[in-house]
Amino acid sequence: FSLPETLNEPMRNYEPGSSDRENLIAALEEFKAQAPIEIPILVNGEKIHTGKIQEQRIPSDHQTILAKAYEADSSIVKKAIEGALAIKSTWETYPFNERSTIFLKAADLAAGKYRYKLLAATMLGQGKNTWQAEIDSAAELIDFWRFNNKYAYEIYQQQPSKHASGVWNRVEYRPLEGFVYAITPFNFTAIAGNLPSVPVLMGNVVLWKPSPSSLLSNWVIMEILREAGLPDGVIQFIPGPAEEITDVILKSPDFASLHFTGSTHVFKNLWKAIGNNIDIYKSYPRIVGETGGKNFHMVHKSADVPNAVNQTIRGAFEYQGQKCSACSRAYIPDTLWDEFRQLLLQYHSKINVGSPEDFSNFMGAVIHEASFEKIKGYIDWAAKDADSEIIAGGTYDKSKGYFVQPTIIVTKNPKSRTMVEEIFGPVLTIYVYKADEYEKVLELANDTSSYALTGAVFAQDRSAIMLADSKLRHASGNFYINDKSTGAIVGQQPFGGSRSSGTNDKGGI
Ligand code: SER
Repeated sequence: FSLPETLNEPMRNYEPGSSDRENLIAALEEFKAQAPIEIPILVNGEKIHTGKIQEQRIPSDHQTILAKAYEADSSIVKKAIEGALAIKSTWETYPFNERSTIFLKAADLAAGKYRYKLLAATMLGQGKNTWQAEIDSAAELIDFWRFNNKYAYEIYQQQPSKHASGVWNRVEYRPLEGFVYAITPFNFTAIAGNLPSVPVLMGNVVLWKPSPSSLLSNWVIMEILREAGLPDGVIQFIPGPAEEITDVILKSPDFASLHFTGSTHVFKNLWKAIGNNIDIYKSYPRIVGETGGKNFHMVHKSADVPNAVNQTIRGAFEYQGQKCSACSRAYIPDTLWDEFRQLLLQYHSKINVGSPEDFSNFMGAVIHEASFEKIKGYIDWAAKDADSEIIAGGTYDKSKGYFVQPTIIVTKNPKSRTMVEEIFGPVLTIYVYKADEYEKVLELANDTSSYALTGAVFAQDRSAIMLADSKLRHASGNFYINDKSTGAIVGQQPFGGSRSSGTNDKGGI
């Protein structure tokens, strides 16, 4: 068995008049004509409809219900566990090439037949503009489904290199005993597709609870996997109330692993619950989580200002700042501040905010009302704080959609609330430092956040880059030089952090 060469999916540009753009518009129209789209629970291949409904609304037009998913309850979750364990005895005996073929086929379906559907579902349901949806629900999802085969293949090749005389040692990578629980976030369709897929590729079975805010794109993922040949019951798709579902799952003796991406708070609570139940499990559960971030851009006095400004605008405001990797604090030297500020305001003034269906919009609405209110709370706080000045944006309006204008705060306090706390929205806070106190500000930046996910340094001076690399070593997992803090590419830049940002990385090399 050998795998095809593993390459990153080329991104498309959806130029006006292109067939890609026309096909995408048709997919958007089709979903809107069908809304609200019914999404079933899928257990053992059986579509289940219950009496309880979870709604996914369009963030930029919250009166419109895009999808309605039926909610799983305790008895359905128990049935899903039993069904997954029953199929496991067969699934885990599939040769790796059989499992791998399913994901290679799924990648091809996502790249071809389903590309526009995935984009349309991600744009309408999660509020991404076309290009943000393309890098996520097309490129990154396809890359995960392709590159994971390469990683798995390499793992399966590992064998002991030493054998004592007369002894033959052999290593076999086996799936966990039990099932995996995947809880996925709204903000990346690719992550939602990846978290249940990775364990399955290695012969495990998964119960998948999708986010209520990404139901439609997540259901499209299930459709693709089934069409690609995934046997019934290997991934059980169980939308529904998080606490009720999680409670049943974490009380099962067969719970073997948590695959989680979401908030630090929820992850810590899950970890505690698993700890409390530790005596009931047959094995020690493997806990894998990617959580929050408070990511920095550190600008040195030698930086190329137009590049630093461009990357900062993109890192802070693409997808409304709703990436765990988004840049939300920036450190600018006083010697560059006038030029940086002027250009920043100029670029900021060109940002259009509105529906993702209008191709000229750089930003859309934030995901839901709770998120809108949280972000608004930080903006209102900054408006009153004596050390903070809002130099751009600062307004919001939820009458039609959950719109928050891209907001830039300058603070005199480098440990102000908006420099320290994760906001998960389009809010950037800047601290202007004395250019000759670079080393001091590196130490300050390192010491500011309990998170350590991503960060970037902007400098032309190599010694400044080296110093940032050494002083900020533990302040980020992904550390970029003269590039924004977002947008890790599968197979090129493994993504993950430390401190309160997560346990592992993904999309390795
Ligand atoms: N991988 C994404 C990024 O790098 C975040 O999950 O922006």
